[in-house]
Amino acid sequence: MMLDKIKETQQFDITEVNHIVDQIMDEILYKKEVLIHVADILSYDEYTYSHSVNVCTLAIIMCKVLGYSVPRIKEVAIGALLHDLGKIFVPEEILNKKGPLTSEEFQKMKLHPQDGYQVLRGYSEMSAISKIIVLAHHERLDGSGYPSQLSGDKIHEVVRLVSICDVFDAMTSDRVYRKGIKTYEVIEYLISMSGQAFDVDIVQEFIKHIAVYPVGRGIILNTGEKGIVVKQNPHMPSRPVLRIFWNKKGEEITPYEIDMTKETTLFIVDEVDI
Ligand SMILES: [Fe+2]
Repeated sequence: MMLDKIKETQQFDITEVNHIVDQIMDEILYKKEVLIHVADILSYDEYTYSHSVNVCTLAIIMCKVLGYSVPRIKEVAIGALLHDLGKIFVPEEILNKKGPLTSEEFQKMKLHPQDGYQVLRGYSEMSAISKIIVLAHHERLDGSGYPSQLSGDKIHEVVRLVSICDVFDAMTSDRVYRKGIKTYEVIEYLISMSGQAFDVDIVQEFIKHIAVYPVGRGIILNTGEKGIVVKQNPHMPSRPVLRIFWNKKGEEITPYEIDMTKETTLFIVDEVDI
């Protein structure tokens, strides 16, 4: 694991970081379809590592959507991959604690942006953009973040972008102390906090390009009917094409398809395992 290695040796291998980022960028940048299926990128190995890769992947997609140049995307990708680097200094028992953190533990956790930044500071070959992402990824638009309570335009656009990807992945992932929150609930949270904590425009773009309901996911409609997602609508990931298998009484019916972009009175009210 990359972070374990840094922790052991206190050495930071910039070549390895470059290599990982190049691989992820190759996978994403040269695909025509920018709509990514969340389930495809979620991996369930060691949390911080998979979280770092997920955030990097989501950030690259968002950079592509926002039309950034390839060199800029690479700077953002490196910052996104390393955003939680400072967690190597947070004691294991705090990182993996099952219950809520005490305020003292939370204070220690909150040092990770500066600690990560300190590690990277001396690397002159790394761009300032990558470093600023590490330092500022917990800053929030309304000044409620840390470590510097920056607000509004003081937070660079790329930092705002990465913080949305970070929150999204952190909330949807399973952690030792709780199950992951459902994707659509996290999307609702991001929307409700946009304008306050998060950038409105970036949240809008994020929602447009991240598949809220991956193909194969079981869902329940507001009518009580149950089915699965069979296809995405690229510009409206919250309204996919469904195949309905059960009526509202739970009886099996002859399956039929619904394109949710054409049935505006229908809403997905829950996700189910089918
Ligand atoms: Fe963090």
